Amino acid sequence: MASFEKLLDGIYRLKVPFESLYTSVFLIETKEEAILFDFATTVFDAENIIIPALRELGKSPNFLVASHTHGDHIGGLERLHKEFPKASVLMYDEAYAKEHKEIEILTLQNGQYIIPGIKAINIPGHSNSCCVLLDERTNTILTGDAVQLFGIDRFGLGISDINKYISSIDILRKLGAENLVASHEFAPLGALSYGKKATEDYLDCALDCLKKAQVFVLDRIKKGYNKEEILREYNNQGLPTISLRHINMLSLSEN
Ligand SMILES: [Fe+2]
Repeated sequence: MASFEKLLDGIYRLKVPFESLYTSVFLIETKEEAILFDFATTVFDAENIIIPALRELGKSPNFLVASHTHGDHIGGLERLHKEFPKASVLMYDEAYAKEHKEIEILTLQNGQYIIPGIKAINIPGHSNSCCVLLDERTNTILTGDAVQLFGIDRFGLGISDINKYISSIDILRKLGAENLVASHEFAPLGALSYGKKATEDYLDCALDCLKKAQVFVLDRIKKGYNKEEILREYNNQGLPTISLRHINMLSLSEN
């Protein structure tokens, strides 16, 4: 049975299989409260992995907080809400909240404290409604998918808005966090950075990866390659793969 592993004081991670990878469910606990941050992909995940792992720890979350509403983060929400009906459900995605009236969903304000010491920050770029949690006790940011590096597997460069993404990385840099915890093993640095320097490097790497991808695409466009050729060459590097959508996005970006 999958169990929560302790990452830092008050921060636990449960790895839940997702395609050939894993997606993370986090438990953030204080003396009085427990926040569940993300809910994996399916009802099966909630029922057979998350709920048993919470039982094993003897925890009932008071808050269910979504990092964003992509399938591998939100899929188990309904089942978890049934299991923990008194827990408040919080997210930034107003559209999702309007479409899912069966659950009472509260929309987060940017900078809102969920409980003392645990702050929610809206960090767009991957999706517009990404929520990063800052745990002020250990000065740790839980970034979900907001910081992509080169992405994961077939989900390379999971960026929907390059300009917002760049501004968001700057916001995260200015927090001066000690540690960073992401939801997946993003290439090339993975899911965790411990220590201020490693965390600065992780965030620098996010911009560096984007810059490398931009240069890769723009250079080849200058040389007269067509987009299919660029895509093929990019996807032959052994990095997480991208699609024509990314090539179009990068070809329109400023170098
Ligand atoms: Fe994800």
